[in-house]
Amino acid sequence: MARQLDEQISGRFPVGQRLRVLDVGMGQGTQALRLARLGHQVTGVEQDTRMIAAAREAVTREPEGIRERVRLVQGDGRDTGVHFLPGSFDVVLCHGVLMYVEEPDPLVAGLARVLAPGGLLSLLVRNGDALAMRPGLSGDWAGALAAFDTTAYTNRLGLDVRADRLTSLAATLDGIAAPLHAWYGVRVFTDTAADGAPVPEDLETLLAAEERAGRTDPYRGVAALLHLCGVRG
Ligand SMILES: C[S@@+](CC[C@H](N)C(=O)[O-])C[C@H]1O[C@@H](n2cnc3c(N)ncnc32)[C@H](O)[C@@H]1O
Repeated sequence: MARQLDEQISGRFPVGQRLRVLDVGMGQGTQALRLARLGHQVTGVEQDTRMIAAAREAVTREPEGIRERVRLVQGDGRDTGVHFLPGSFDVVLCHGVLMYVEEPDPLVAGLARVLAPGGLLSLLVRNGDALAMRPGLSGDWAGALAAFDTTAYTNRLGLDVRADRLTSLAATLDGIAAPLHAWYGVRVFTDTAADGAPVPEDLETLLAAEERAGRTDPYRGVAALLHLCGVRG
């Protein structure tokens, strides 16, 4: 995923340009910190008190030059219009968040609004076109059958959440003037690996296979997650 993001960033912006990045639903800040370490100016938004505390803690462990490039805002990703001016970011990330939002369109529209013209919007969502894969590959046939005609699912934390279909999210991106520019599958082969499973010895090969599948039809279409990249017109 990080490689896909870096590929999109390097394809759009001159090498070495310090980008203004917004990471909505940043969690513990893994991606935000990685981008700050690369030299970008990063703002993270997170609503959960414990998550933002963990992100703050992680920032304090960074050298000063990186710390001063990171700004954290506790708040709801649906309120970007309250915190930020239109067009004030070059890159906006929203990874692993839309599943928790009942009505994704207003949130995504808000993200597009704070993007500068030519800016990159990177969304990571649960793939609503392939929800039967996880139960099906785990031998849960009833679960697989039930998953065909819905975008609702129960995640690994036991929460009832929702997935997004590629065509409908692409239509949303069209409607908010940030049309789909590229998309990838994420977790094509590894979705059914148990949480906390030991890291395989041949991790590099596994990652190469995932990377290849994530950008190749028809494999990417049945990935657990979709990485959609829109570009603000
Ligand atoms: C699955 S985690 C993903 C974290 C990070 N973006 C990543 O990719 O590793 C989802 C995060 O989104 C946050 N979140 C969910 N809904 C949100 C909202 N409406 N506004 C801000 N953060 C939200 C959650 O608190 C959680 O930290």
